[in-house]
Amino acid sequence: MDKLYIQAKAFISSMQQFEKTHVNDIKLRKRLNEIKDSIQATGTYIHTKGELDFGAKLAWRNSNRCIGRHYWRNLDVFDCRTIDQPDLAFKALEDHILHAFNNGAIKSTISIFPPRDPSQKHDKIRIINHQLIRYAGFKNTNKTIIGDPNSIIFTKLLQESGWNPKNKGQFTPLPWLIQINGKTIGYNDVFQKKSQLLNEVTLEHPESDAFKNLCLKWYCIPILSDMALKIGGITYPCAPFNGWYMGTEIGARNLADESRYNLLPKIAKLFNLNTKNERSLWRDRALIELNRAVLFSFDKNNIRIGDHHNLSKQFEKFTKNEEKSKCPISGDWSWLVPPISGSQTPTFHQEYDPSVIEHTNFFYQDSPIVKMNKKKTKGTSSSCPYHLK
Ligand code: ARG
Repeated sequence: MDKLYIQAKAFISSMQQFEKTHVNDIKLRKRLNEIKDSIQATGTYIHTKGELDFGAKLAWRNSNRCIGRHYWRNLDVFDCRTIDQPDLAFKALEDHILHAFNNGAIKSTISIFPPRDPSQKHDKIRIINHQLIRYAGFKNTNKTIIGDPNSIIFTKLLQESGWNPKNKGQFTPLPWLIQINGKTIGYNDVFQKKSQLLNEVTLEHPESDAFKNLCLKWYCIPILSDMALKIGGITYPCAPFNGWYMGTEIGARNLADESRYNLLPKIAKLFNLNTKNERSLWRDRALIELNRAVLFSFDKNNIRIGDHHNLSKQFEKFTKNEEKSKCPISGDWSWLVPPISGSQTPTFHQEYDPSVIEHTNFFYQDSPIVKMNKKKTKGTSSSCPYHLK
């Protein structure tokens, strides 16, 4: 049987299991026959609005690396499948940000653009940015880096195509770069024009006044824009989505990793920690202070943010309930355990089934133009189960 049909059937069956959408077996079989006929005639099939909506939610539920999946039914889905013009696409992305931000009470949101047409060489639309809001990384001739090292390749590409921002700082938001039918459209420096779309939190520490002199901040909404959404075997290569942050993503990774903003030495200095000796555990102590600052500052500004203790507990409760209802959840332990204080969260003490549900999920995909920072250690795209096949 056709691989697409097998995946479509698996998806429609899950939908039936969770939603009882098709009131009886006859209706269910009718929809499956429609899909089969469509695949035979055209090589593909078209999701109904209901399938698109549920499919996006199920893809989230199936995302092994996400600790926030107990919210999977609370996803606002925007159907952008007819959008294939740059202006309309940019407008839809701006609308996505406004809807998701919701004055700080961030809402999980996805905007789904046209599906991949297997008979076409190029996708109708692709976003090259890794996230809709992300900071640039500028590499100077003397090899020093200003900004986010993770963005160096993309930043260079933008500069080569003429982007020359006035301020090349630690936190310069990147313009949007999209492709329509394989053609790259000139970059759109959206946050330069509409700064109200760029919501950020300045970091303060609950006790140390001097912390704010570090001039740190981070943006409020993580909107992944380079992953592919797959629903019932159909690939949507452009489907930007967001949840809200868990504090450690910012405080224990983005700002702390040596290969990212690498701020722990500065923070240790601020707190007078002994950095000469690893056994002073200055890294660990600095890490905790930075994470306290992240949670404190988001809270102070009324921007929704999770913490690893509560999220982990909620996730644990969710997985137990789903098991009881015979709908077990798969998971990736190495991602579900937070990067600080792992053993103090229930996830650490749990085992997870690592199988990746293929028919409906989110997948990494190759960028249509840049070979982004591919980590050699993480396996090649063909061996990675989270990579689009
Ligand atoms: N870890 C990524 C970042 O720090 C964001 C990934 C999605 N996170 C989320 N909470 N939905 O930017």
